[in-house]
Amino acid sequence: MQVTKLNLAERSYDIVVGKGVITFLGGYIKKLELGDSAYVITNSALRKRYGLRLERLLQQAGLEVKFRLIPDSEKSKSFSQLITAIEDISNFDKNRRVFILAFGGGVIGDLAGFVAAVYKRGISYVQVPTTLLAQVDSAIGGKTAVDLAQGKNLAGAFYQPRLVLSDVRLLRSLKPREMRSGLAEVIKYALIKDKELFNYLEKNYPAVLRKDYSVLQHIISRSSWIKAAVVSRDEQETRNLRTLLNFGHTIAHALENALGYRGLTHGEAVALGMLVACGISVRLAKLKSRDAARIEGLISKVGLPVKISGLSLAKVIQAHYHDKKFIGAENRFVLLRGIGKAEVVSNVALKVIREALKERIIV
Ligand SMILES: NC(=O)c1ccc[n+]([C@@H]2O[C@H](COP(=O)([O-])OP(=O)(O)OC[C@H]3O[C@@H](n4cnc5c(N)ncnc54)[C@H](O)[C@@H]3O)[C@@H](O)[C@H]2O)c1
Ligand SMILES: [Zn+2]
Repeated sequence: MQVTKLNLAERSYDIVVGKGVITFLGGYIKKLELGDSAYVITNSALRKRYGLRLERLLQQAGLEVKFRLIPDSEKSKSFSQLITAIEDISNFDKNRRVFILAFGGGVIGDLAGFVAAVYKRGISYVQVPTTLLAQVDSAIGGKTAVDLAQGKNLAGAFYQPRLVLSDVRLLRSLKPREMRSGLAEVIKYALIKDKELFNYLEKNYPAVLRKDYSVLQHIISRSSWIKAAVVSRDEQETRNLRTLLNFGHTIAHALENALGYRGLTHGEAVALGMLVACGISVRLAKLKSRDAARIEGLISKVGLPVKISGLSLAKVIQAHYHDKKFIGAENRFVLLRGIGKAEVVSNVALKVIREALKERIIV
């Protein structure tokens, strides 16, 4: 087991990663004095598979438990789910001290975190992420949100959990495509901050894909450590540091948007976005072609896409103008100066973006 502390003064919390760490849940809840009643937000498949065990663990710690099941879809990150959950929790809350437990992937984590942020102006919540993507990324750092028709994550809050408990055994039921999607974010951390992790992934990716628990523990705790270090220095993305975590995401969001959020998983879009960012970096003479080829090699070996068809270049270019990272008319890209070295660059010429994109789109 490995524990990383995310340092934010009195809002600091532990990120616990390992095999079987879910058994420590009750002990942590008591130690942190989170309350006497757990309002668990999850979906029916996860409840069926893990709910009984989770309920027992919580009851053994003397807690009352209520499950709230939400449909398994990005569509659940909605105002209507938010409001129904708030009303439901307030009915459950009578004479209790209730806290929220998010048990699921990023969809559940983002929604549950936002419910916790707004109910009674903020109650405690715990993240127990069950996808690789949520364990390495979305459960950490306190970005909570729901989607609007106008775009993803447009209504939300920065609101930190009190604990993140990532049990690698929960990943045993995760589909291979979802494993690869999470792996794209791990590759992202390696590329922006950690060359050793990149070397490790090149050597150990087959073990990741067959879910070797000790290899998973290593890459999840390394990723958690990097994200915690960045968030503790730039919690609300005001200093360009947290922006680095957006490597690959400007183009990823444009691809997802141009496809109407169908067809590609988020990690697949990030893989393509990282390759476009590498293409831009090479064209601006920041990154060596040899390193770019190594990066493409890893992305392709783990089974993530390196090219995409059925999309028009114009549509992607149009969609990339809506990126939240745009400031006024200036674009901002995270680019690489080498494996493990990233920087934020403003005002990249459209011609360069277009050429790098063209390389990835099959017409
Ligand atoms: N808050 C942040 O900082 C942040 C960062 C990145 C992504 N996100 C958000 O995260 C969401 C994507 O998260 P995700 O990729 O985890 O998707 P998800 O939550 O939709 O989960 C993917 C699928 O895996 C299933 N699943 C979850 N755990 C499982 C398990 N243990 N075994 C079997 N199946 C399981 C889910 O039911 C779902 O069908 C997006 O909404 C994105 O905006 C947020
Ligand atoms: Zn991402």
